[in-house]
Amino acid sequence: MNSIIITGGAGFIGSHVVRLFVNKYPEYRIINVDKLTYAGNLNNLRDIEDKPNYRFVRADICDFDTIYALMQQEQVTGVIHLAAESHVDRSIKDPFTFARTNVMGTLSMLQAAKLYWESLPEKYEGKRFYHISTDEVYGALELTHPEGLPSPFTTKASADGHETYGENFFVETTKYNPHSPYSASKASSDHFVRAFHDTYGMPTIVTNCSNNYGPYQFPEKLIPLFINNIRHKKPLPVYGKGENVRDWLYVEDHARAIDLIFHKGTVAETYNIGGFNEWKNIDIIKVVIRTVDRLLGRKEDEDMNLITFVTDRAGHDMRYAIDSRKLQRELGWEPTLQFEEGIEKTVRWYLEHQDWVDNITSGEYEKYYEDMYANR
Ligand code: NAD
Ligand code: DAU
Repeated sequence: MNSIIITGGAGFIGSHVVRLFVNKYPEYRIINVDKLTYAGNLNNLRDIEDKPNYRFVRADICDFDTIYALMQQEQVTGVIHLAAESHVDRSIKDPFTFARTNVMGTLSMLQAAKLYWESLPEKYEGKRFYHISTDEVYGALELTHPEGLPSPFTTKASADGHETYGENFFVETTKYNPHSPYSASKASSDHFVRAFHDTYGMPTIVTNCSNNYGPYQFPEKLIPLFINNIRHKKPLPVYGKGENVRDWLYVEDHARAIDLIFHKGTVAETYNIGGFNEWKNIDIIKVVIRTVDRLLGRKEDEDMNLITFVTDRAGHDMRYAIDSRKLQRELGWEPTLQFEEGIEKTVRWYLEHQDWVDNITSGEYEKYYEDMYANR
């Protein structure tokens, strides 16, 4: 039987992955291991929390003894590792927390899996350690076509002839060149994962994905923060000139890719995952404003005046753009959702789930879970 630990399952992407696996594979046992930091929220998983194949364990991935005991107790056959500190701005203020969780936490997960799997007669046979990483480890690309050019890639999601802002893209062999404490910590964790394959023969896989958007994203990240601010007529802090480019992927398309790669990907390989969907921040912000205004019945462009240019993020990477044709070619994955459709679904979800946002922004949910677990 497949018994899979998914770390960070109470976070944004992790909750989509947990939901997909719990619903799609009733015969698997899915163990969600999450510390419930400020970013973890069990409200993200209400619809599946009572399923018989699901278990939630509140634990810190840095706590090796607990993780190792859990691996033995649950006879774990696979790990999908998403738990991390994930927000670049926080990493600039507090790099130590990022090194602890992202580097030491990943090492603790790897070592626990190694010791447990090596203790079994079949050892690594039928096992898999899948590490979820980011395109930010590759550094920044240049903005060589500020006005945009037709993209050289065609997928269902980019069939509208979306633009590219440079001739270079991140491929799986692009040299690592992280700039922020966040991306440096993720790069370091990626190196540890590959080292465990090369040194001990652990069956590892790494994927590097571009910016995700969609329901349940913590409202400190660009899209949910701005949807909430527009709703409440609060200023929209655009870093620098808003010219930075990101490649956006709907979160459920990422979760589908993770499912496919976990089951069909080749051990020791790296796969890039991206949306073939580059946007300048200022352009995406305008799309979000128009969508919120339309769905709230406000006048067209009523909230454009909320745009407020502020001091740039330190070390702000100019452009990310992923070439994920390897994944397309080898495993047949491609994004399914056109951006216009994805952003409409996303804005609608946040507007219809104001209670979810309010719980977070009021800090209530964090206190609630602290109290709940303190009393156990
Ligand atoms: P998130 O911040 O929404 O969620 C992170 C989760 O990890 C939270 O539930 C948190 O409680 C948990 N966590 C943090 N520290 C922990 C610890 N020490 N022990 C146990 N659990 C802990 O993050 P996300 O945006 O869902 O990202 C998930 C993963 O995907 C991360 O590894 C991130 O680097 C990667 N990633 C994210 C994006 C993106 O656009 N969000 C893109 C590519 C890759
Ligand atoms: O590329 C993948 C990465 O995408 C993930 O690894 C990270 O975990 C995830 O947080 C995301 O990183 P970014 O820094 O790109 O995402 P963020 O939403 O913080 O910012 C997106 C862009 O918008 C970035 O260029 C900074 C800018 N921005 C962001 C915020 C929060 C603003 O201009 N104003 C803001 O208030």
